[in-house]
Amino acid sequence: LMVDIIAGARPNFMKIAPIICAFEARKAAGGVLRYRLIHTGQHYDPRMSGEFFRQLGIPEPDVNLEVGSGTQAEQTGAIMSRYERLLLESPSDLCLVVGDVTSTMACAIAAQKLHVPVAHVEAGIRSGDWTMPEEINRMVTDAITNWFFTTSEVANANLRKSGVGDDRIFFVGNTMIDTLLANIDRLQKPDFWDGLGLQEGEYFVVTLHRPANVDKGDGFARLLRAIAEGTRGLPVVFPVHPRTAKTLRDLNEVPDSFRLVDPQPYLEFNYLVKNAKAVITDSGGITEETTVMGVPCLTLRDSTERPETVTTGTNELIGTDPAALAPALEKLFAGQWKKGGIPAMWDGRTGERIVGILEELLGSKRGTN
Ligand code: UD1
Repeated sequence: LMVDIIAGARPNFMKIAPIICAFEARKAAGGVLRYRLIHTGQHYDPRMSGEFFRQLGIPEPDVNLEVGSGTQAEQTGAIMSRYERLLLESPSDLCLVVGDVTSTMACAIAAQKLHVPVAHVEAGIRSGDWTMPEEINRMVTDAITNWFFTTSEVANANLRKSGVGDDRIFFVGNTMIDTLLANIDRLQKPDFWDGLGLQEGEYFVVTLHRPANVDKGDGFARLLRAIAEGTRGLPVVFPVHPRTAKTLRDLNEVPDSFRLVDPQPYLEFNYLVKNAKAVITDSGGITEETTVMGVPCLTLRDSTERPETVTTGTNELIGTDPAALAPALEKLFAGQWKKGGIPAMWDGRTGERIVGILEELLGSKRGTN
């Protein structure tokens, strides 16, 4: 029985690593499932892709669809037609997609149209914000998913509300946290640590890549100034996403306290996060990692598809108005940030659960159309 594991963009790689590890463990124990790792090529920079494979011990992809850059529709179309061709030439029994990137949605559509069942890891989460491409990807993917692997009770409730029966929902936890817990003792101090004068708890980490925050130069410049003012001269380490780099190139100046660095490999990035005073971000996945590491997180968005990082964890939604940063950072400097706890099932064993369930499901084909 062959399972296609799909990965395309950076946030997918930490989500597939523990699933692959669990597949290998089951195979060694005599399990019947085999997998084929398919990289769509959506992220192709070594800094956005290859480095993650190397550090997380993910094997070379069996197939690379090499779609590269493009508009949302161009990438979606290219991934769909190339994956469809692959499935026609060499069929599979299940398409396993993770997260919410363009590759997730495109492969789910191509597979389901060829009657290959789809399993979605991190299913059911919703921001309610249709201006985010990821929200469209989540909704479309979940509309045509057979088996839903979820990270939270909120996700389970969202799926039930949309009519999915409990027999197709599997609350298994968070594979991104499997990867974090598996690597927490081998995080690596980046080479630039001393050169940039960083000290534990005495710097901030910033990541920004959402179109709403970075695509317009004026707003982006205002945001950077507000961050610099609110962080009181402490160094602000900013690993720059390729999308953000384009806007940065056109800015006249970046505040002095900013330390611009390349996108960081997994172990270095999470070392920076673990030892930061706080993280300021517009990412979703990072809010889960800060929650587990107990690091304060200020999210520059109006909504989140991961509400447990706010209700249980260390995350707070600040909004996209730069003026909102000052009061939040004052609270942080006053030592009044919440401590936070860890959401249910985020225990490092999600990959195993998923593969165990897939063995049962594919054995009986329960729930397919
Ligand atoms: C994608 C995901 C987003 C995820 C983010 C993390 C979608 C819709 N969005 O957004 O959910 O949080 O990745 O990184 O799938 N580029 C490079 N090198 C690369 C990849 C991209 O230079 O390896 C450039 C592209 O040419 C493009 C820009 O970066 O100009 C954006 O890349 P794209 O994959 O379209 O979406 P992201 O904004 O990275």
